[in-house]
Amino acid sequence: MGDDLLIVNESELLTLKGPRRARAKAEMSELSIIRDGAVAIAGGAIADIGRTESILREHDASGVEKIDAQGRVVMPGFVDPHTHLVYAGSREFELEMKAKGKSYLDILGEGGGILRTVRDTRSASPHELFAQSSKRLESMISHGSTTIEAKSGYGLDLDVELRILETIRKLGDDYPADVVPTFMGAHAVPEEFAGRTDEYVDFVSTTVIPEVAKRKLAEFCDVFCEKGVFSVDQSRKVLTAAKSLGMKLKVHADELRSSGGAELAAELGAVSAEHLAKPSDDGIMAMARRDVIGVLLPGTPYSSMSKDYADGRRLIDLGVPVALGTDLNPNCWNESMQFTVSLACHKMRMTPAEAITASTINAAAALGLEKKVGSLEVGKRADVIVLDVPTHAQLPYKFGTNLCSLVVKDGKVVWERQPF
Ligand code: NIG
Ligand code: FE
Repeated sequence: MGDDLLIVNESELLTLKGPRRARAKAEMSELSIIRDGAVAIAGGAIADIGRTESILREHDASGVEKIDAQGRVVMPGFVDPHTHLVYAGSREFELEMKAKGKSYLDILGEGGGILRTVRDTRSASPHELFAQSSKRLESMISHGSTTIEAKSGYGLDLDVELRILETIRKLGDDYPADVVPTFMGAHAVPEEFAGRTDEYVDFVSTTVIPEVAKRKLAEFCDVFCEKGVFSVDQSRKVLTAAKSLGMKLKVHADELRSSGGAELAAELGAVSAEHLAKPSDDGIMAMARRDVIGVLLPGTPYSSMSKDYADGRRLIDLGVPVALGTDLNPNCWNESMQFTVSLACHKMRMTPAEAITASTINAAAALGLEKKVGSLEVGKRADVIVLDVPTHAQLPYKFGTNLCSLVVKDGKVVWERQPF
C-alpha cells in the first residue's frame, strides 16, 4: 500500500516507543525522541518512522501529500482520559463564591455545583445538549486531543443518564476523535433522593447500570468516592454491579479528603483512580502493587482555588503509573491538555517528559487503548500532532496559548492553523 501522508523535518519526533502498557518510574522520562524525524502514514496507521533523510530515501514521495513541519515538535495526539464533556449551562458565578472562601463541598451542599448543572442538563433538549457539548469537543480537538473519555453524571435519573451516554456516542460518531464512554450515575445524590443515599445507590446499581449495560452505552463505570458524597461501601456496591456486567472501573478517589478511594480501586482491580490529592500511603502502595493508574487532574485545584494539588512527583517515585486529564466540567472548564501538562509541571513537580508520557501512552492505558494509540509506532493509529515549539520542554513552558499547528486523526488532517 502506498503512503497517504508524509510529515517531515520535525526537530523532535516524540515517538514514546516502548512497552505497550502504562509506564512507571524512570520509564516515564523516556520519550524515545528522533531528531530531524519524519512519519509516513498509510491507511490511517503509522507506516514508518525515522529520520527525514531515510524516510524520504525509502518512500516514494511523488503524489503523496507531504507536510513540512519546519523544525517543530511532532508527537502522538493527546489522550484526555477524564472529562465530563456532556452537560448544559455554565457556573461562572461560583468563581466569586470560591474567591470568598466557599469550598467545593459548601457549594454542593447549598444546591450549587453538580446539582445546579443537573437541573440545567435535565431541562436542555437533546439537540441543545449535543450542540453545547460538540462546541467543547471541537475546541479540544483543535488543542490536540484525539482520544477523549467522557462521563455521564449530570442526569442522575434513568432517562437523562441514557440521553447523556447517547450524546457521547453521537459525538464520537460525528467528530474526528475517539470518544470513550463512562457511566457515572453515582456522581452526586439527586435532589429527589436527598438524605436517602443508600436508596439512590440501590437504584443506580439495580436499575440504571443493567439498562446501560444492555444498551452497551458505557465501557467504564466511575463513582465519586468521597467522604460526604459516596462512601467506600456505597461505591463498592455500584462498581461491583458494573463489573459483573462487563464494565471496566474507574474511581474519583481521595479528591478532597483521604476517603479510602485509592484502596478501593486497588481492591476491585480498577483500571485507574483519579484526582488523588489526598490518598493514604496504604492506598498509594496498593495502587502501585496492582498497577492501578493514577489519573491526576491539576485543572481542578486550579479552578477550585485550592492549594491541594496531587503530589505527582511522590506518586511517580513510589511506582504509580501516572496519567493526566483535563477533568473538563462546569467547575473546571479546561479544554486543553496543553494547559494541563503545564500545570502538572508547575504544580505537581512533574518534568516535561513525565507530563508528556502521562498525557499520551499512560492516558491511553487509563482507557485500555495502549495497544492502539498513545505512541507513534508502526501499526498504531496515525493520531499525530504538530506543535509550534522547537523542543518539547517548551510545551509546559509556554502556556496560555494554543501551540498546535496541525492535528491528524486516523491519518487525516482534521485541524490546521492557517496558514500552516
Ligand atoms: O471531577 N468531583 C466530582 N466531579 C467533578 C466536578 C463536577 C462538577 O463540579 O460539576 C470533578 O471535579
Ligand atoms: Fe471528574
